[in-house]
This record gives sequence, structure tokens and C-alpha cells, in this order.
Amino acid sequence: MHVVVNAAQSVDGKLATRRREQLRISGAEDFDRVDRVRAAADAVLVGVGTVIADDPHLTLDEEDRRVERLRNGRPGNPARVVVDSTGRTPTDARILDDAATTYLLVSPATPPERREALEAAGAEVVVVGGGGKGGTGSESEAEGESDEGHVDLGAGIDALAERGIDRLMVEGGGEVIYSCFAAEAVDELHVYVGSMVIGGRDAPTLADGEGFTDAFPRLDLVGTERLDDGIVLSYEVGDGES
Ligand SMILES: NC(=O)c1ccc[n+]([C@@H]2O[C@H](COP(=O)([O-])OP(=O)(O)OC[C@H]3O[C@@H](n4cnc5c(N)ncnc54)[C@H](OP(=O)(O)O)[C@@H]3O)[C@@H](O)[C@H]2O)c1
Repeated sequence: MHVVVNAAQSVDGKLATRRREQLRISGAEDFDRVDRVRAAADAVLVGVGTVIADDPHLTLDEEDRRVERLRNGRPGNPARVVVDSTGRTPTDARILDDAATTYLLVSPATPPERREALEAAGAEVVVVGGGGKGGTGSESEAEGESDEGHVDLGAGIDALAERGIDRLMVEGGGEVIYSCFAAEAVDELHVYVGSMVIGGRDAPTLADGEGFTDAFPRLDLVGTERLDDGIVLSYEVGDGES
């Protein structure tokens, strides 16, 4: 599985304001770049925090790219994935419409009736960890342990690979991006740095979670590109630690 993380941040590293409202950090040129990265992916993953804050659709904007995928025997849009331990995704979320397959990676803590409601709303629920505790029998099961009730992302990624996903794009937010790095699952990182300051100690950053105190993921800067009034920094994730 090849995992590409993409996000837009202010120069001070924030993904949104302290109110966690969606904010336009980049512009049309960068949206087109993001659409291109999406078009190359088999699936696009976000955390439930992003679903609740932004209600994203995560489909391709550019019709030509959808047509090209169909021509290559792929679904028109990449699948969508939500990391959602207890099934908090609203049943009327845009991500659950029929524009693409949507996987919800949940932990066994999700109540069976919630799983059924989400399946009825169009989700394919994948229980990660717990060996099938409390299962309804209708959902898929994947191996792995859940960490403090959270979805084990490494196990979740393995479950997606079993479903034919070879290239995964992670679009945030900060909690999920941190967990992807902590699981040593990230191969590439693309960060659009917008020419603005957001500030706020409680505003989400590129990598939140607990943070590293050692064994920091090391990145190789492999590209810079000026787009709109900001810059895209592209990194490959090294194997080394320091
Ligand atoms: N600028 C950008 O590029 C960009 C992109 C995306 C989002 N955003 C912004 O980021 C904010 C949302 O980010 P966020 O950090 O609050 O939320 P997030 O990363 O989207 O979702 C975090 C939630 O995912 C669930 N989760 C389940 N398993 C997890 C795991 N292993 N690791 C981490 N999370 C796990 C947790 O909720 P449960 O415990 O309920 O499972 C957790 O609270 C919004 O303000 C949004 O606008 C900005």
C-alpha cells in the first residue's frame, strides 16, 4: 500500500481556525493539484473530525479525470474512507452518497444499531480490531487491536489493501495524519503552505495527536512548487529515525 498525505496549512502550521471551521487556505491552482492527486488514488481517507467539521464530498472535480479513470476500468471516483471509532459519521453526510464506495473503519465499540443505520445510509462498515466482538454478522471484519478505543490505523490500512486499495490518499485532519505517521504508514507528504497566519494554540495543526518525543519521522524534500499565493512542499518519508 502506498500512502500519500496531503494537506493545506497556514505558515504557522494550522489546518483550520480554533473554531475548526473549514477555511480556504489555498486557491484554484492548488485545488486542481489536489484533484489530480485524488484521481491517482484508489481511495481517499479522512477522520470523522473532518467529516463533522467540513462535510466533505471527496469526489473528483474534473469530469475529464473521472472519464479517464472509467476508461481505465476503474471506478469514476476513488473510494472514500472515514476513520470513525464509534460510528459518529452523520447518516446524512455527503460522503455517504452513491458517488463512490465509502468505507467506515470503526472499532468494536460501535453499537450494532449504529452500524446498521450507517450501512442503511450507504456505508460499507469495516470493524477493525477486537476479533468480531459485538458483531452483527453483516459487516466485514479485519484483524488488529484497537488502541484506547480508537481505530488501529495500521490494521485499517491492511483491511483496505485486502479490498484492492493499493494507493491511499489521506486528506486529514491533524489527528488522523499524526496517527498515520505514528503507524509508520506514510510514503509521501504534500503540504500546501498558504501565505497567511491563523494562530491559536487550540487550532488543528498538520500533526496533532500526542506528538513524538523521539523517533521523529524524517522527511526528504523532493519538490517545491509555487501555486496561487503559496507553495507546495513535497516530501518522501525516509526510513531513518533521529
Ligand atoms: N487544511 C486542510 O488540509 C484540512 C484537511 C482536513 C481537515 N481540516 C480541518 O481539520 C479539522 C479536523 O481535524 P481533526 O484533527 O479535528 O480531526 P480528524 O483527524 O479528521 O479526525 C479525528 C477523529 O478521528 C477519529 N479516529 C479514529 N481512529 C483514529 C486514530 N487511530 N487516530 C486519530 N483519529 C482517529 C477520532 O474520533 P473518534 O474517537 O470518535 O473515532 C478522532 O477524534 C477541521 O477543522 C477541518 O476543517 C483541514
